[in-house]
Amino acid sequence: KIYQASTTAPVNIAVVKYWGKRDPKLNLPTNSSISVTLSQSDLRTHTTAACSASFPTSDSLLLNSSPQDVTGARTQACFRELRSLRAALEASDSSLPKLSTLPLKIVSENNFPTAAGLASSAAGFAALVRAIANLYDLSSSPTELSRIARQGSGSACRSLFGGYVAWQMGTKDDGSDSLAVEVAPASHWPTMRALILVASAKQKKVSSTSGMQTTVATSELFQRRAEIVVPKHMEEMEKAIKEKDFEAFGRVTMKESNSFHSTCSDTFPPIRYMNDVSWAAVGVVEDINRKAGKIVAAYTFDAGPNAVIYYEEANTDIVAGVVKEALGSVSGWESRDIKAQASDVLDAADVEVLKKGITRVILTQVGEGPIRTEES
Ligand code: DP6
Repeated sequence: KIYQASTTAPVNIAVVKYWGKRDPKLNLPTNSSISVTLSQSDLRTHTTAACSASFPTSDSLLLNSSPQDVTGARTQACFRELRSLRAALEASDSSLPKLSTLPLKIVSENNFPTAAGLASSAAGFAALVRAIANLYDLSSSPTELSRIARQGSGSACRSLFGGYVAWQMGTKDDGSDSLAVEVAPASHWPTMRALILVASAKQKKVSSTSGMQTTVATSELFQRRAEIVVPKHMEEMEKAIKEKDFEAFGRVTMKESNSFHSTCSDTFPPIRYMNDVSWAAVGVVEDINRKAGKIVAAYTFDAGPNAVIYYEEANTDIVAGVVKEALGSVSGWESRDIKAQASDVLDAADVEVLKKGITRVILTQVGEGPIRTEES
């Protein structure tokens, strides 16, 4: 007999950034963070978890059809934690099948390029944990599961929820209070849009895991960020989301991205994730905001050159429409009905750099958390 369960899980893009670990083994962060979950119609991982006495004795994981190493500490931690929750269930009810001792077979597919700086590890570990929790019939809440997903990849803990999500850093050494919680559901502020400018689908050079360790070890700016800047931004961001105040949301989002990339520059040797194309995107967003006379668009960059530009639906024309006109024919615009708008408000040099450097756009929006799918 084969037991199995499936789920999807979304990507999330942080607006208050996680960067730095106080415990690299448990992925306990040096500061709290907040993200927006993006729609799974555009970006998601689909994962099926199966177990059976008839499987080969070792656990296995296929990602986009290629076998992955499951012996790494992070995957092992997720398997171990989920198995022990299942074992506790089995111990309390002897009529349950003994799934906790059976080998696991995990099959995952991304509908977007892996490791292009599009937070694939977040969706990946969230889907893995959610799928096995479904397979094991665990009653654990998303917050409880976030403790496990965090050990796979820090940012994954935020992908167990839809909408606007905070990861509370916690203070305990065992990580039991380092958990994700919902700030607001997607339905609270459903008009949030995200335009992703894909600058390069190549594998990134410095992984977030090693990059943030070097930052913690060498950057002095980092300490100020963790102790003073982020706590202030956390408070301002939660308030902006609760009040649906885009100007405040946008200002904090941009300042956060700038602060995070400044600590990267201050790392020794320096880490550089943003490139000339990224800076051209910053210029374009500034020009759009200047023209609008207020903040209507907000850029943010993770551990790679891609720009994510948040804006509200009502400003689609003056944000996405202007970028569409500037970029001309790159793929991705087909997915939404965006009218190109005059882009003469933009700096011509920025437009040239963007045109050369952007290979694809993804138009998406705030979305829901993991969704259980047909067992197939
Ligand atoms: C810049 O979650 O990928 O995207 O915990 O080592 O797996 P690990 O790191 P990861 O780091 C994400 C960093 C970031 C900011 C963020 O998502 O908050």
